[in-house]
Amino acid sequence: MARKFFVGGNWKCNGTTEEVKKIVSTLNEGQVPPPDVVEVVVSPPFVFLPLVKNLLRPDFHVAAQNCWVKKGGAFTGEVSAEMLVNLGIPWVILGHSERRLILNETNEFVGEKVAYALSKGLKVIACVGETLEQRESGTTVEVVAAQTKAIAERVSNWADVVLAYEPVWAIGTGKVATPAQAQEVHFELRKWFHANISPEVAATIRIIYGGSVNGANSKELAAQPDVDGFLVGGASLKPEFIDIIKSAE
Ligand code: G3P
Repeated sequence: MARKFFVGGNWKCNGTTEEVKKIVSTLNEGQVPPPDVVEVVVSPPFVFLPLVKNLLRPDFHVAAQNCWVKKGGAFTGEVSAEMLVNLGIPWVILGHSERRLILNETNEFVGEKVAYALSKGLKVIACVGETLEQRESGTTVEVVAAQTKAIAERVSNWADVVLAYEPVWAIGTGKVATPAQAQEVHFELRKWFHANISPEVAATIRIIYGGSVNGANSKELAAQPDVDGFLVGGASLKPEFIDIIKSAE
């Protein structure tokens, strides 16, 4: 089964109501390949989710940028998976490096979040990636395998998971991984799924790349055999996001 190209736009903690409306209208006017060629999911901050969901073209979908690890309740400041489901939000991004590193989310905690979100019917963009220090010490594959393993220990159905490989050193730095660097890690991750989960999951799971993707570098990255799409930060707030989506073809 061919893997459908996936492009996610992670808006992070950006935007005002007016800016959000502007981004959505740019997206709504964009000429992009049909939904059987590319799946597009944009992830505004929580407070803008209903607005974006209501205004966005029907062939694009929305994702939350996080959710709580279990059923909601006395967890001040958190948003539960149940609430996202209640609002009709189909996707959630979990394990982004900004949360792992700034908010100290461990591999195990991320694994638990992924499992809980899936159990409530959400689809998950699960992020993994090494720091510059880890890359330079030669532990990249070990690090991303450990992050993936912590998810795998808690998840058995991978059909609703997209794995985003986001090297921390490439995020927001303008220092994109070369196509060869991205392909190498994506290949190793797929090999890991083959050896540890199943050949079927290895063949079907979408592994997308994130880290300084833009309209100028997306085509070459998309041409790599194990790169099944992108998770885009900064450029997802700009009209060039449409060019990135077009790299699916
Ligand atoms: O989740 C997307 C991401 O962290 C990459 O951000 O700004 O480097 O595209 P950016």
